[in-house]
Amino acid sequence: MRRLPGGGDWTRALPEDPDALVEGVLTDIERHVGTNLARVMRFMGLTTLEWEARGAVVRDVHGREYLDCGGYGMFLHGHSHPHVVAAVQRQAALLAQSTRLLPHAGQAQLAARLAAVAPQGLQYAFFSNSGAESVEAALKLARAATGRTGVLAAEGGFHGKTLGALSATGKPAYRDPFQPLLAGFTHVPYGDAAALFDACERAAAQPGGLAAVLLEPIQGEAGVVIPPDGYLAAARAACDRHGALLILDEVQTGMGRTGTLFGCGHSGVRPDILTLAKSLGGGVMPIGATLATAACWRPFDENPFLHTSTFGGSPLACAAALAALEAIEQEDLCGRARALGERIGPDLRRLADAHASSIAAVRGVGLLWGIELRSEGLGGWLLSRLLDAGVLVVHSLNQPRVLRVMPPALLTSEQWGFVLQALDGAAAEADALAAELTVPDGAG
Ligand SMILES: Cc1ncc(COP(=O)(O)O)c(C=O)c1O
Repeated sequence: MRRLPGGGDWTRALPEDPDALVEGVLTDIERHVGTNLARVMRFMGLTTLEWEARGAVVRDVHGREYLDCGGYGMFLHGHSHPHVVAAVQRQAALLAQSTRLLPHAGQAQLAARLAAVAPQGLQYAFFSNSGAESVEAALKLARAATGRTGVLAAEGGFHGKTLGALSATGKPAYRDPFQPLLAGFTHVPYGDAAALFDACERAAAQPGGLAAVLLEPIQGEAGVVIPPDGYLAAARAACDRHGALLILDEVQTGMGRTGTLFGCGHSGVRPDILTLAKSLGGGVMPIGATLATAACWRPFDENPFLHTSTFGGSPLACAAALAALEAIEQEDLCGRARALGERIGPDLRRLADAHASSIAAVRGVGLLWGIELRSEGLGGWLLSRLLDAGVLVVHSLNQPRVLRVMPPALLTSEQWGFVLQALDGAAAEADALAAELTVPDGAG
């Protein structure tokens, strides 16, 4: 049984026959969820089940422990943060879901709390259940508020996979089977202010006009792409020039992930609409939020039934988000994310220098880091080697060549040391593999 720094002290008994349990689950996945999914899981060595998790540590059904640096950005607080869990348990026993007729306190309190901490002017909030839904609300609001239809988004950008959000997501493989998507969406290269400026001019001249520019402050699923200084400010200026709205998708970068509460905090650029999800629920409840200025909010204000959700902003989800925000403040999770990020950066750069045959680059800020490998195949291979070593990382949906390291803010120095050692060991093996795969000049 593998024990890791910060592990142990589990409450749930392990099953008597874990292998039989795993086999049963994989068979059910095969038959009822997806044959290929089960095949990929077996191929990647994902032949266990997550069983219990606390903080940065996950324990599987075989009693092995893992340090979780994945979670696609959901776990700034780590797993089952006690303050968030207590708030959800309390709320579940009192009023779990809303009548949807009477107002409930949590929704109003969370909207007010977010307005107090968000970039200035984002006074209103709509709550949903996921990142994609928070983007749907943003797109609908932008169209209704401007009376225009055009939206500029970025190549490689990820905004979710519902039809509206997918219209903005910049990966053809996810889009093509569902064409035609929403009309009026154009994609521009991310980080190129001149291209964005030109595209805005062109979109504004179209009959539908330009409703909004939708960007991530740092692209997460594109493989942690950080735009040049001044890019978001240029996007803001282009929007202002055409009376279009700037939507910043902070589903991944928001809630402290980059070392400031919002990713746009690094540039000081204020959007008209901002989306949140992932860590907003403290790693315990699903919740999405769409924040907007009073000027944008007019259509939702005039008709409160224009955009609604039965479960969005439930008492349970709001209790989780309020507690998540409290934990961020009380435990200075943004400060911890910054401090840990300042250690991770140089460590990962040294790692890249030492393993240049397999690692092409590393980049990131706070607790959002990407390791770009020299080939796509190395991504899945490294991911399973790290799994064997007890470290969970994730690939990037729109750029499989980049593995992402996204630890919780409470990861200790000792735990990071363990992660780094595992990365170093796996990368050394990847170097050897990369050398084997390299065909010498002139061969064949
Ligand atoms: C920036 C961004 N927007 C939207 C989404 C979609 O969120 P969800 O998977 O909760 O629908 C994601 C998910 O990775 C994301 O990173």
